[in-house]
Amino acid sequence: LVMENLRPKTLAEYIGQDEAKANLAVFIQAARQRGEALDHVLLHGHPGLGKTTMANILASELEVGLTATSGPVLERAGDLAAILTNLRPKDVLFVDEIHRLNRVVEETLYPAMEDFHLDIVIGQGPSARTVKLDLPPFTLVGATTRAGLLTPPMRDRFGVQVRVDFYTPDQLAEIVLRSAKILGLEIEKAGAMEIAKRSRATPRVANRLLKRVRDFAQVQADGKVDRELADYALGRLGVDSHGLDRLDREMMSAIIQKFDGGPVGLGTLAASVSEEAHTLEEVYEPYLIQQGFIKRTSQGRVATKRAYDHLGLTPTMGAQKRL
Ligand code: ADE
Repeated sequence: LVMENLRPKTLAEYIGQDEAKANLAVFIQAARQRGEALDHVLLHGHPGLGKTTMANILASELEVGLTATSGPVLERAGDLAAILTNLRPKDVLFVDEIHRLNRVVEETLYPAMEDFHLDIVIGQGPSARTVKLDLPPFTLVGATTRAGLLTPPMRDRFGVQVRVDFYTPDQLAEIVLRSAKILGLEIEKAGAMEIAKRSRATPRVANRLLKRVRDFAQVQADGKVDRELADYALGRLGVDSHGLDRLDREMMSAIIQKFDGGPVGLGTLAASVSEEAHTLEEVYEPYLIQQGFIKRTSQGRVATKRAYDHLGLTPTMGAQKRL
């Protein structure tokens, strides 16, 4: 519920992703002036960077309704048909994890996206027939972590494709200050910057850490967040100076100490830190790669010199040659 309150409701309130926002503002205005549904929008980027928030903003700026679902939830073509036939004209249908639609549902979606109709098969065997069902015009907003996970025909049906990027520390500090204001929390700029720098370039992480820092401020201090309090609280949370948490460090030290710096396969690495391969790949790795702590090679994951330095470890002779 609180998270919901922290989400910006308009493009103007949304911090960062400036190029995407400026382009979307044009596409929204153009569609509204023509009285049409906005073309379908694909949002791609790592978890927590604001794809769902952006989908909600699109609907609210278009002044249309939004129905939200996700790829794995739409099991049968009938599930999709039920949702599509209940949309009002120009509504947004938000499909999170759209790369996880099964083939039957995905193929049902194609004619719906292209000319707003469904081909529904009724009956079985020789008496089976197809009925064509007209749909109201709508905007499909799909979200996925990587555009490359979509099949080419699916990807090609999105007229607008937006990549959401990692945020800079300044942008995250702005988000933290905005969230603190909404929470009624007193925070100094330096305190916000400390949280920002240690939030893995991700607003969802920044807002989560802000709430935990607030708890320490309330219980163990005077309720105000300055740089020192933020540093203390983040330390208590196991978030280090670079914003890495225990699992990040465990991953890097496993690559280094159990696999001599790598390469090690994702599944093997996941088992060695008792975590899901999918979680490592989608949630943990992107930031570690972006920051240059690990590299993804065709043979597996390898630790970089930066990882050894960060953990205070010395590469073996063998590992040194591979660095
Ligand atoms: N909260 C989460 N993401 C945000 C963003 N991009 N701008 C403002 N507030 C946010």
